[in-house]
Amino acid sequence: MPCDGSPPLLLLLLFLSVFGASHACLQDPASAYRFTGAVCRLTYPAAVVLNEKTTKVIEAAFQHARYPDVRGEKSLLFIGKVIYGLENLEIHNLSIGRSEFELRPGEGIGMKISNVSAVFRGTIQYGYGGWLVNVTHSIDFEIESQIDLGINPKLYCGGGKVAADTSDCYLNFHKLHLQLQGDKEPNWLKKLVTNFITFTVRVAIKGQICKEINKVANILADFIQDTAEHFLTDGNISVDIGVTASPAITANYIESYHKGLTKYNNTSAVISDSVFHPSQLTENRMLYFWLSDQVFNPMLAAAHQDGRFQLNISGAELTELFKTSLSTAMPEFIRKCLLESGSPELRVWSSSVPHLNTSTIGTTVWVMASGQLHCGSPDTPTLFFETDVAMEVTVSYADKKLFLHGNPTETIVVKAELPLQNQPLLDQTQVEFIREAVEKIGIPKVLSALEIEITRLLDKQGVNLFDIFNPVVLPRDGFVVIEMDFGFPHHLLVEFLRKTLQ
Ligand SMILES: *[C@@H]1O[C@H](CO)[C@@H](O)[C@H](O)[C@H]1NC(C)=O
Ligand SMILES: *[C@@H]1O[C@H](CO)[C@@H](O)[C@H](O)[C@H]1NC(C)=O
Ligand SMILES: *[C@@H]1O[C@H](CO)[C@@H](O)[C@H](O)[C@H]1NC(C)=O
Ligand SMILES: *[C@@H]1O[C@H](CO)[C@@H](O)[C@H](O)[C@H]1NC(C)=O
Ligand SMILES: *[C@@H]1O[C@H](CO)[C@@H](O)[C@H](O)[C@H]1NC(C)=O
Ligand SMILES: *[C@@H]1O[C@H](CO)[C@@H](O)[C@H](O)[C@H]1NC(C)=O
Ligand SMILES: *[C@@H]1O[C@H](CO)[C@@H](O)[C@H](O)[C@H]1NC(C)=O
Ligand SMILES: *[C@@H]1O[C@H](CO)[C@@H](O)[C@H](O)[C@H]1NC(C)=O
Repeated sequence: MPCDGSPPLLLLLLFLSVFGASHACLQDPASAYRFTGAVCRLTYPAAVVLNEKTTKVIEAAFQHARYPDVRGEKSLLFIGKVIYGLENLEIHNLSIGRSEFELRPGEGIGMKISNVSAVFRGTIQYGYGGWLVNVTHSIDFEIESQIDLGINPKLYCGGGKVAADTSDCYLNFHKLHLQLQGDKEPNWLKKLVTNFITFTVRVAIKGQICKEINKVANILADFIQDTAEHFLTDGNISVDIGVTASPAITANYIESYHKGLTKYNNTSAVISDSVFHPSQLTENRMLYFWLSDQVFNPMLAAAHQDGRFQLNISGAELTELFKTSLSTAMPEFIRKCLLESGSPELRVWSSSVPHLNTSTIGTTVWVMASGQLHCGSPDTPTLFFETDVAMEVTVSYADKKLFLHGNPTETIVVKAELPLQNQPLLDQTQVEFIREAVEKIGIPKVLSALEIEITRLLDKQGVNLFDIFNPVVLPRDGFVVIEMDFGFPHHLLVEFLRKTLQ
């Protein structure tokens, strides 16, 4: 998401907005819900996990801030005009005490980073003298400081994206202790620079650090935006996940609303009667995704049109599959094909647009599947068949793998032909064998191929880099809810900051 947010907030938004895009937001939530295909709810416990990473980002902001040279002048009795400047300000020995945050319902996020202690080092240049005297000196100094930092980002919906305003940023200095290197400097100078630092350095440091936090935030934002744009894109299929309404903030969660429109071959899906309502999600897990059937159906259609639902199985793998015991006897021509042809090949593909419908029992998928069995002749199949298949599918994710559990509810052989023998129809037992083979061999094989493919897609998007705990996919009427807890891998953030801030 292109968010102008504070870094920890952006970490929150990374989850809210594994999503990016365009278009305007609706002010009235109830009407926005109707156009919402995907929802992301991140609860307080998740924000706690992400906030633990805040200190890393704040450290980076302090360490990469470039402090400008500061100049001043003052007239002193007996000495005349003194010109002084602070140069080469650097930060050392940074340590961060703790960071806290709260969700402020309807408003934003309050963040407080307390007890940042740091040593600033630099050089003071000064010159003084009357009309004719002009002496210039330079001394090194060190400032020990203890600072509290507060940021109150406001979330809003800007340019169709979740955006954040971090202009409310403040620093409180608890301690600002100046040490000059060496004691040979005149007392009046010590007093002067101490005052100078007290009044000026605070302003300079505050300005630069708040600016740097904004900069780091923008780098993170760009990164998240890129990630988001690629997350649901594969080949020519993409999903528009622009927001439909401003994110909602309650005391216990942040929720964002997205379109979820599949785009393929210059056409975009349309969602205008979504059944989303916030009461469909609970608040006890860290992260929730709400996904409508209206998101999945256009995705399935695009994948079908893109020729994604095709599977070829040949040789020993095919022979092995047919060792599954079935109650119907294997027709002689299939037995011969598998054992004697040397290079048997089965090609199966979706021959109609797949369609799904989710209810509390599970997701039912309907599709027409066709197949060809080749027994040595690559051009003309020995067997051609077409089946109508319906099955209930439930989904789970464990050990960084996706699992599909399918329960066929209907398998009808619509057509079965032997093109080589010019024989249009098989006898009843042969048709029953095909039906049983599709149900007990074909469907499990296709689901296992899909499991591998979807896991590969998720891994490609980096899902496997996160520590996901006990994810559950709950089928509901017309939508699914995916809920999970997670740990944010420390190395991911460190790696990101190291790469981008070098
Ligand atoms: C900063 O850290 C260095 C090394 O850890 C230490 O020698 C030095 O005393 C520290 N300076 C201050 C002002 O704490
Ligand atoms: C702040 O940090 C210093 C050392 O880093 C520690 O001695 C002090 O107790 C801390 N104060 C608070 C209020 O946490
Ligand atoms: C002192 O001399 C330096 C150069 O030597 C000059 O830049 C500066 O303006 C002078 N300051 C005064 C107060 O004349
Ligand atoms: C995307 O579509 C274009 C034109 O239809 C085609 O040339 C290209 O190969 C497709 N790319 C992928 C990755 O499928
Ligand atoms: C893309 O759409 C055009 C018409 O808009 C159609 O002719 C073509 O077959 C479609 N291509 C695919 C791969 O669906
Ligand atoms: C999509 O439409 C644009 C212009 O409307 C055209 O240039 C482009 O070739 C089309 N792409 C496909 C894949 O049909
Ligand atoms: C299956 O085999 C046919 C014929 O060789 C080929 O056109 C098709 O691309 C193959 N499909 C896959 C998914 O490998
Ligand atoms: C989907 O299932 C619901 C019941 O859960 C039913 O009311 C609805 O008509 C079904 N829709 C389709 C398109 O089959």
